[in-house]
Amino acid sequence: MTAQTQNSPVAVEAIDLVKDYGEADTVVHALRGVNVRFERGRFTAIMGPSGSGKSTLMHTLAGLDNATSGRIILDGVDITAMNDKQLTLLRRHRIGFIFQSFNLLPMFTAEQNIVMPLTLAGGRPDRKWFDLLVDTLGLRDRLDHRPSEMSGGQQQRVAIARALISKPAVVFADEPTGNLDSSSSAEVLEFLRRSVRDLGQTIIMVTHDAVAASYADRAIVFADGRIVADEASPSAERMNELLTTQRRRTAAMSGAPTMAQLMDVPVPPLAVSSRNSEQSGR
Ligand SMILES: Nc1ncnc2c1ncn2[C@@H]1O[C@H](COP(=O)(O)OP(=O)(O)OP(=O)(O)O)[C@@H](O)[C@H]1O
Ligand SMILES: [Mg+2]
Repeated sequence: MTAQTQNSPVAVEAIDLVKDYGEADTVVHALRGVNVRFERGRFTAIMGPSGSGKSTLMHTLAGLDNATSGRIILDGVDITAMNDKQLTLLRRHRIGFIFQSFNLLPMFTAEQNIVMPLTLAGGRPDRKWFDLLVDTLGLRDRLDHRPSEMSGGQQQRVAIARALISKPAVVFADEPTGNLDSSSSAEVLEFLRRSVRDLGQTIIMVTHDAVAASYADRAIVFADGRIVADEASPSAERMNELLTTQRRRTAAMSGAPTMAQLMDVPVPPLAVSSRNSEQSGR
């Protein structure tokens, strides 16, 4: 398993992935046969309207939820064939998850929160890796603080360190900057990108923010349980363009007027500054 996993350039792959919630006339088709590969050492953003299946994709890829059909190959292993115990071990050792709401344990210090996945597994942190994470994330002088004594950006950086401490094959981040102001958000995105560039992590991040997506190497647009666009080196402008096109297509299909049509105004281009376009030529 190890030789196979380390040679594979693919960190995680979904093959014909289907996820339905509910049954019969109340069934919701959250994923309608998704085929996608995420390469090792890359930062991918996932965008798309609310309810399009982004979190469902993350949860099924991470083994937090069962797929209805299809296969998921994570780190060279088919996780759809795993039992609950195997999935628990997989999540503990091979997967990191960063939530919008940080999900830190309030009674514990930053350091205790960071090493929690290892403590739970009865292991000890690799001290060099811990130090590298803490210094890269600028958390050295916050290690003895509890979550309530830290800013949102600092709490999310602790959550990132916790997700990376076990050197997982893939880190999933579901709207990690959704609860942050713009400067904390930029701080967190910069650290996510550095953990890919400098530490070789693989990160898949859901975001509603085109500027956040522009930090990634690749961005995927989801709509109604399917991938509708896949963009390399995304700029914020390009992502806004794709999202606007998608919104218009959905509105045209439903026959409902868009908000702009109702208000009888032209759809303004979303004013954003783009990292990738600012840094073209990097
Ligand atoms: N546990 C559940 N039971 C039933 N339906 C669900 C469940 N979880 C999600 N759904 C439905 O599946 C669809 C996809 O939901 P999902 O949470 O993946 O969307 P999302 O793209 O992450 O949206 P958002 O941007 O609002 O977070 C939605 O229609 C949602 O209502
Ligand atoms: Mg979601």
